[in-house]
Amino acid sequence: MNEVQRLFSIEGKSAIVTGGSVGIGRMIAEAYVRAGADVTIVSRKQESLDEVVAELSTGGSIRAIAADLSTQEGCAHVAATYAERADSLDILVNNAGATWGAPFDEFPDSAWSRVLDLNVRGVFNLTQALAPALRNAGTAEDPSRVINIGSVDGIRPPDLEGYSYGASKAAVHQLTRHLAKKLGPEHITVNAIAPGPFPSRMMRATIENMGDELPAMTALGRIGEPDDAGAAAIYLASPGARWVTGNILQVDGGVVINA
Ligand SMILES: NC(=O)c1ccc[n+]([C@@H]2O[C@H](COP(=O)([O-])OP(=O)(O)OC[C@H]3O[C@@H](n4cnc5c(N)ncnc54)[C@H](OP(=O)(O)O)[C@@H]3O)[C@@H](O)[C@H]2O)c1
Repeated sequence: MNEVQRLFSIEGKSAIVTGGSVGIGRMIAEAYVRAGADVTIVSRKQESLDEVVAELSTGGSIRAIAADLSTQEGCAHVAATYAERADSLDILVNNAGATWGAPFDEFPDSAWSRVLDLNVRGVFNLTQALAPALRNAGTAEDPSRVINIGSVDGIRPPDLEGYSYGASKAAVHQLTRHLAKKLGPEHITVNAIAPGPFPSRMMRATIENMGDELPAMTALGRIGEPDDAGAAAIYLASPGARWVTGNILQVDGGVVINA
């Protein structure tokens, strides 16, 4: 490995990727496995997790923990199960997220807890539960990493009527900055990726309904591809980003500048 490859290498690092069974989480999990990391994916459905583990394990090291991250018990379960195997964790990617869309006049009260419990409380609770393992891995030379997945919808007012979603993603970005300030002295960096449109289960209906309008929202004229998500997540986890914390990295093809 030459010096430049070393700067961007995450080989041998331990990583947890939440929501790693489909969509952006799966893109990141696959990129991490290909890069030689030891990856644990987390989501609720054991069957989907088993499928991804079977598919990706031929290329590297991957396993799964099933848990509902919208509850504190679910987050504690992930930390306890992970601790059975290892006492340190290099990289936590808080990617699992949910959305809800409804017209303003009909937007249900239930869509607030449904979205915020996972997108915001879950990010905090899992980071808190795994903090001992992150502290064990981080050093001044090479801090451990927390990477939260926010959204362009937390930066500019969303086009769609996902009122709790946009608010949750702005909260993720602010929580990222707050945790970066708190955990920096403990050798843990905290950054966020704010994706633009990527193909996923969450985006299936939007991609179908909007057709060419969706790529046209970007400055670069296309939606995201797996390597776009994977490369950003590798960078933030790599030695090259060890002095980067409290940032919101837009990986959006220019959606925000085009708004
Ligand atoms: N796709 C986009 O265009 C886009 C754009 C901007 C931001 N984002 C953000 O990127 C992240 C991933 O989005 P995506 O589009 O890839 O979503 P997705 O296709 O809907 O996947 C969501 C993942 O989270 C898991 N999950 C959902 N609820 C959970 C819970 N309560 N506990 C644990 N895991 C749970 C799902 O698995 P189970 O259902 O089996 O639990 C799945 O693995 C989200 O934070 C989203 O807000 C996405």
